Amino acid sequence: MLEQLEELKLKALRELAGVDNNEELESWRVRYLGKKSELTNSLRSLATLPLEERKIAGGRANELKAELESALSAAKTGLAARLEEKSKGTEQLDITLPGRPWPIGRLHPITQTIHEICQIFVAMGFQVVEGPEVEWDYYNFEALNIPAEHPARDNMSTFWVDYRNEAGQRPMLLRTHTTSVSARMVEALKPPIRVISAGKVYRYEASDATHVPMFHQIDGLVVDSRITMADLKGTLYEFARRFFGEERKVRFRCDYFPFVEPGVEMAIECAVCAGQGCRLCGNSGWIEILGAGMTHPRVLERGGIDPKVYTSFAFGIGIDRLPMLRYGIDDVRLFYGSDLRFLRQF
Ligand code: DAH
Repeated sequence: MLEQLEELKLKALRELAGVDNNEELESWRVRYLGKKSELTNSLRSLATLPLEERKIAGGRANELKAELESALSAAKTGLAARLEEKSKGTEQLDITLPGRPWPIGRLHPITQTIHEICQIFVAMGFQVVEGPEVEWDYYNFEALNIPAEHPARDNMSTFWVDYRNEAGQRPMLLRTHTTSVSARMVEALKPPIRVISAGKVYRYEASDATHVPMFHQIDGLVVDSRITMADLKGTLYEFARRFFGEERKVRFRCDYFPFVEPGVEMAIECAVCAGQGCRLCGNSGWIEILGAGMTHPRVLERGGIDPKVYTSFAFGIGIDRLPMLRYGIDDVRLFYGSDLRFLRQF
């Protein structure tokens, strides 16, 4: 038995010395230390030996097992070092090559514009709020003094949601303006109120260079005691100065929106022709960028605010036009085409 073990040891170590890859090493381990190895078998056959012999042979067999295990781990380390040394000669790794840059995403130019405008109003003390894009007829029209059959609904070609109430009316739509959020705020908040909301709005229109069926607006609402038209003008002048620069001229003119009285539109001097008149501004020298006005008392009343105690102004800015003006982009559809060559410029 002892001789057998000695022979086994010599054979095992000889073979181990010849191993030069990981597969061979593993098969050596299975052969000499695995469950079905010769060593395991001889350990099993110990049971048949007389007691004295069993003790000696058992001790030797266990020693051998430990010896083979440590030889294996030494061989493993040695092999790993040899393999690494070998690969140095053949591996094609040029550590002087520049690294591969990770592509970095960016915000869409419209999103950047929204952030910029929000920052300007937040600096003036406004709070940013949100409202749903799928909206009730009530907040989009009714609460804003635009009842069913009102002609103002005509210029807001509406995408209706195909859902009818018991009376057969379609009370749900894709909001046509973010003024719907201001209607919600009149109802939800108590004065003093200073909020803006930005987001997508929808109109059922064909697309062309200046129209798309989904675009962006920001609406603002201020409600407090003693709010006047002077506050409206001061706030919007300040916005224009901060967004377009100190020098840009601004003009207010009368306009009509059912939810304000009086209503105005604000235009900025055309930057392309410096007010001389060109194709971009339709030869007028001015470009309209927002609608505004003193909130109609009926709108406040509907929202539970007493118009005898509080007054209010509101405004709605078309966003898409602003980066178009700033960067001289002549087709609004470019913003929505997902062409990265275009979008990566901003
Ligand atoms: N909602 C109007 C539109 O889409 C713009 C507007 C005008 C908003 C006057 C206002 C406002 O809040 O006071 O044409």
